[in-house]
Amino acid sequence: MKMRVSWVGGFMLVAAIGLTACGGDQPSATPSASVSANVNVSKLYQNYCISCHGNQLQGGQGPNIQKVGERLDEAEIVKRIQKGGGGMPPFQVTMKEEELKALATWLAGLK
Ligand code: HEC
Repeated sequence: MKMRVSWVGGFMLVAAIGLTACGGDQPSATPSASVSANVNVSKLYQNYCISCHGNQLQGGQGPNIQKVGERLDEAEIVKRIQKGGGGMPPFQVTMKEEELKALATWLAGLK
């Protein structure tokens, strides 16, 4: 119950750190630099991921992904979101490409 009250603030903080941490050092897989500018990553996470990965990315039905960037790079995260697997559903159809990319960029920056 305690976490319910504070999750918005907690999440926004996590999101802000993630977004600033992955500013300039993206691999050159895609040339579109401003891809996350018009995508609300925290909204996406709330809509699609929070039910399994928790309001602080702490995990639940899915694993803790607070530091997922240490384990997986952006391309691997994209693939994971697209294909799902191991109990996670695929989101390839549900999500626009730019949304997927923004989400993966953010997660890859969490270290
Ligand atoms: C129905 C529950 C569910 C939903 C919804 C879900 N996931 Fe997952 N996710 C899982 C499970 C379970 C795993 C672990 C799969 C495995 O063991 O390979 C996982 C694994 C992952 C991993 C790999 C973690 C690692 O350390 O290897 C990432 C990244 C991830 N999810 C991101 C997301 C994102 C982003 C979303 C929203 C778009 C999302 N997940 C939505 C259940 C879910």
